[in-house]
Amino acid sequence: MSQLDITSQKKPKYDYQHIQVKPVTGRIGAEISGVALSAALDQDVVNEINQALLDYKVVFFRGQQHLDDLGQEAFARLLGEPLNHPSVPIKGGTKHTLAIDSRDGRASSWHTDITFLPNYPKYTILKNVVAPDVGGDTVWANTTAAYEDLTPELKTLAESLRAVHTNVYDYANKAASAAESEGRKLFTTAVEIETEHPLVRVHPETGEKTLVLGHFFKQFSGLNNEDSRLLFTLFQNHIVRWENVVRWRWAAGDVAIWDNRATQHRAIDDYGSELRIASRVTLEGDIPVGVDGRPSKIIKNVVNQDISELRKDEGRIYKKVS
Ligand SMILES: [Fe+2]
Repeated sequence: MSQLDITSQKKPKYDYQHIQVKPVTGRIGAEISGVALSAALDQDVVNEINQALLDYKVVFFRGQQHLDDLGQEAFARLLGEPLNHPSVPIKGGTKHTLAIDSRDGRASSWHTDITFLPNYPKYTILKNVVAPDVGGDTVWANTTAAYEDLTPELKTLAESLRAVHTNVYDYANKAASAAESEGRKLFTTAVEIETEHPLVRVHPETGEKTLVLGHFFKQFSGLNNEDSRLLFTLFQNHIVRWENVVRWRWAAGDVAIWDNRATQHRAIDDYGSELRIASRVTLEGDIPVGVDGRPSKIIKNVVNQDISELRKDEGRIYKKVS
């Protein structure tokens, strides 16, 4: 048996009765059809969407144009409790929605959402509103398959490591527009949060082991900067191997939901000055636990600015009008 067979999706993992589930690659991603997302979905359907998320890590729904921001929030509540970002203002007229807008920057490096928080999101729900004619795809990587492919020696090393994640993330090497600079500055200054996570967490629903890294990584605990960076590169390279990755070409009305505990993702910045707009809701996760049973630990939590009265729309930050 080749290594690929270990995590193959060829055999159905679950007999879906209420939704159609079609895998997109051998290891990650499935398209779900036969569902119009809304708060009115039957519990049986919601349960199967949840099961597909655990099986395939990211699921895609086409043609969900009927879902407005408040409808997306109401649907999201069927899967969990919304978690607002601590340093990115929500979109005007919503309670939990982030306006992802190409005029405000592009998340074009590999990450797991908001890993500087101890209870970082379990699921992210992203609805495309405006897609470029071509380009602006998103890619996701399966961090469980990445762990499973490690040699026994590297698994042992990974399970012994803990890493600090921070929102004070270095954007310095990229030119930014005025709107981008405003949002990035707030992102890294409104709060200063650091959390130490195990490099290998045990997934609370599947029991699978999964690697926790991505661009909010700062340093491995107990190691110097150079050794930290070398080991980061080693494990990160295993995560983003082509065999672990799925790529989605967006059309307006597409919705992606991913298990943020078992994936990393990034957007592809290849669409020049075209618009790319999406609405995002994240759902609160639980505190990760390592293979040794030790939970993640918050080590810094400084609030410099209350962003609750701020809103962000069309790439601009403004004060809420009540
Ligand atoms: Fe993201």
